[in-house]
Amino acid sequence: MTAPPLLHLRDVRVSFGHEPAEPVLHIGELVLRRGDFLGIAGESGAGKTTAGLTVLGLTRHAGARVTGSIRLAGEELVGMPERRLRRLRGATMALIPQNPAAAFSPVLPVGTTVLRALRLHGCTRAEARLRAATGLKGVGLHEGHLSRYPHQLSGGQLQRVAIALASALSTRLLVADEPTSSLDVTAQARICALLAELRAAHGTAVLFISHDLALLAGLCDRIAVLHRGQVIEDRPAADLVAAPRAEHTRRLLAAAPRLGGPAVSGPAEEYREGRNDRRGEGTAGDA
Ligand SMILES: Nc1ncnc2c1ncn2[C@@H]1O[C@H](COP(=O)(O)OP(=O)(O)OP(=O)(O)O)[C@@H](O)[C@H]1O
Ligand SMILES: [Mg+2]
Repeated sequence: MTAPPLLHLRDVRVSFGHEPAEPVLHIGELVLRRGDFLGIAGESGAGKTTAGLTVLGLTRHAGARVTGSIRLAGEELVGMPERRLRRLRGATMALIPQNPAAAFSPVLPVGTTVLRALRLHGCTRAEARLRAATGLKGVGLHEGHLSRYPHQLSGGQLQRVAIALASALSTRLLVADEPTSSLDVTAQARICALLAELRAAHGTAVLFISHDLALLAGLCDRIAVLHRGQVIEDRPAADLVAAPRAEHTRRLLAAAPRLGGPAVSGPAEEYREGRNDRRGEGTAGDA
């Protein structure tokens, strides 16, 4: 018997407000396997963040109604008690939010948040310290960064701390919501390379949300295009870019000028070719 996919969404509808509200998101089917890099593209308001937060069971906090089925490694998440969901968040699935400051308490050094998360998932104090230090080194930061408060780190550095934590927890599914949109090109490339390393090291699957199709085309194996809350295309990235089927995808591509230039290459290709040993250039620089 083959193992179930890591993530399997079926007939998922998300709506806000009073019945009978039109769902803002309706996903017929979406499958992610171990190590998959799936891009979620779409214009502003298409439902990308809603899709990512729903997978993590976080839209219910915003008063959303979620129906259908979301299975993570065979386990149903829709209707799962919050306590159980909280245990899955971190070790099994994690979020890199668009605004990384929101992921860390402003009144605690980031290290406290990181070590607490590791302890919550069964590490001893010593183990947690060791794993945090190793994870930070992997993203070009050092243990000293743990004693800083979120406002004392740049956005890119905070995102790297979040990636280090996912790495320390060997997170199986990472939802990255526009993780690079506030960064310059070099910092963007570093974050993308780190996500590729995470996948190579732990087989982490990544749901990479971005409005930037050029970025997704270089990074992802597959791209799903959302339009008004519906998946209008879900195909291998290279095929989708070379021959978009939906008119809306063509429009999004036309708005991504970099795709008109030389062929885009990125961590996705390196992973496929087994060249996954690249670090983001530089070390503890400010991303
Ligand atoms: N908490 C909420 N209450 C009511 N409506 C919401 C809520 N969150 C999202 N929506 C609606 O759901 C739709 C999709 O929003 P979402 O944030 O998922 O879009 P997005 O694709 O992430 O856009 P952007 O690229 O601007 O981040 C929008 O129409 C939005 O108004
Ligand atoms: Mg969004």
